[in-house]
Amino acid sequence: MSKPTANAAAPLRVWTVLELLRWTTRHFQQGGIDSARLDAELLLAHALGCDRLHLYVDYEKPVAEAERARFRELVRARAGQRVPVSILLGRREFWSLSLEVSQDVLTPRPETETLVAALLDAYPERDAEFSVLDVGTGSGAIALAIAHERPTARITASDVSPAALAVAQRNADALGCADRVRLLEGSWFEPVAAELAAGVRFDAVVSNPPYVGRREAATLPPELRHEPELALFGGEDGTDALRALAADVAGVLAPSGFAAFELDPRQADAVAGWLAAAGLGEIVIHRDATRRPRVVSARRPGP
Ligand SMILES: C[S@@+](CC[C@H](N)C(=O)[O-])C[C@H]1O[C@@H](n2cnc3c(N)ncnc32)[C@H](O)[C@@H]1O
Repeated sequence: MSKPTANAAAPLRVWTVLELLRWTTRHFQQGGIDSARLDAELLLAHALGCDRLHLYVDYEKPVAEAERARFRELVRARAGQRVPVSILLGRREFWSLSLEVSQDVLTPRPETETLVAALLDAYPERDAEFSVLDVGTGSGAIALAIAHERPTARITASDVSPAALAVAQRNADALGCADRVRLLEGSWFEPVAAELAAGVRFDAVVSNPPYVGRREAATLPPELRHEPELALFGGEDGTDALRALAADVAGVLAPSGFAAFELDPRQADAVAGWLAAAGLGEIVIHRDATRRPRVVSARRPGP
């Protein structure tokens, strides 16, 4: 198991894949990381340049020093600075699409798939022709999932962060969707203000806006420090963006147009009320995979 060093005095320990996984899993568990084994596997696979399942056939294989040094850096960042695995890997899967992520964007969450599903249910035909605006697109996750599922939809996606839009652009290019997703920079509905003034309206508006309350900042998991504040916080109680979007969305939608917003489960009833107050109907609260209220949708009344 040992191999001679340059002066042959202190033999270097040789670590197998399985030994590294066991040690790292324990280290992560002791540091309070919930998904310790999974994180260890993902990071080791990344350091070795293979996929995670490949580790299982290589359990007894010794890991070369250069690869172990790469892995050590990743483990240090994960356990020490609590950098999320998605950022260390630079990628995250969303709606079965592999997306680039970085510290410039929110890592897409599984619960956001509830929002994509709500929109797809509203336009169930694969070749449906409709226009949709994704406000606060971040990595482009929602817009690109819609582009993937509804190839004839006309998609506009906006964000106030140029750095986020650069990531969204690279994701659109990589997925071959760049010609079908128009990316615009600016705050909420401002990037489409000129179009609205000219009478254009969208068939659908979707958004996963920042909805965490600043007053909860001290209680959040340390991993969130590595995501943009702009993507997380919606004012003191988290509802600033949702209030603004609910108040203005009727003026952006075509008659019978569909709107859907992701939110914290505790905000669902309030947002439903604001949408009703803004004149929208057919209000539905959608639950995520953990059965918690996660999305509120509504329609502008028809002509
Ligand atoms: C919760 S993240 C959602 C990102 C992505 N849509 C997703 O679901 O993974 C919220 C996004 O809203 C953007 N944002 C924050 N304030 C904004 C504003 N005033 N106008 C437009 N976008 C904004 C942030 O930059 C961030 O990308």
